[in-house]
Amino acid sequence: MNTTEQSLSVRQAIEKRHSIRTYKQEPIPQQDLNKIFELVRLSPSAWNLQPWRFHVVTDNDLKEKLEEAAYGQKQVTSAPAVVVVTSDMEDVLANIADTVHPGLSPERKEEEVANLSGFFNGMTVEDRAQWGLTQTNIAFGFLMLAVQGYGYSSNPMLGFDQEKVRELLNLPGHVKFAGILPIGKADSEGYPHHRFDLEKIATFH
Ligand SMILES: Cc1cc2nc3c(=O)[nH]c(=O)nc-3n(C[C@H](O)[C@H](O)[C@H](O)COP(=O)(O)O)c2cc1C
Repeated sequence: MNTTEQSLSVRQAIEKRHSIRTYKQEPIPQQDLNKIFELVRLSPSAWNLQPWRFHVVTDNDLKEKLEEAAYGQKQVTSAPAVVVVTSDMEDVLANIADTVHPGLSPERKEEEVANLSGFFNGMTVEDRAQWGLTQTNIAFGFLMLAVQGYGYSSNPMLGFDQEKVRELLNLPGHVKFAGILPIGKADSEGYPHHRFDLEKIATFH
């Protein structure tokens, strides 16, 4: 049975997810990567703009360079694949009509495109990049759970030099980083969950 047939429930995926920093040296089948990203595609975003873009790095030389950019954090080369999660609002805006629901009438589509363009053209490139990042972070969360759901582990990371990673992947200056995510089969256990109590984080009105 391949990994993708053993998927976990959402609850199991959330409970079993821990940051894993050493991985088995087994490549992830492309079919599994495709299944993971097919799920991540379904992440929600405001106005359905979907600004997330995923760069999946499996090349050993490039992983070594990424590790260097991540201040030598060893999980980067230990993992068979490393996903660099980026947000590209300029690409979204350049192709804004693609985000409009195909079921709308041509008039409604035109109206929607005009509204969206008007809204984002009134912002600086930097402000709309930050706005896009809030959406891309949602997909980053979905990605961690999709990975877990299909029997893999991961480690969300923001500890890296963004300008170095930008250079390595040849990304334009307006692109933002949600983080990088080494993924693979766990070869160690994570730490037990340590979290605030419900009383601190939730109020019921
Ligand atoms: C956005 C983000 C950035 C993180 N950056 C790093 C990192 O650079 N290196 C690292 O080892 N762990 C990193 N972590 C992992 C956290 O330390 C970890 O999620 C937290 O301690 C909770 O542990 P758990 O993930 O095992 O439940 C990061 C987590 C998040 C969500």
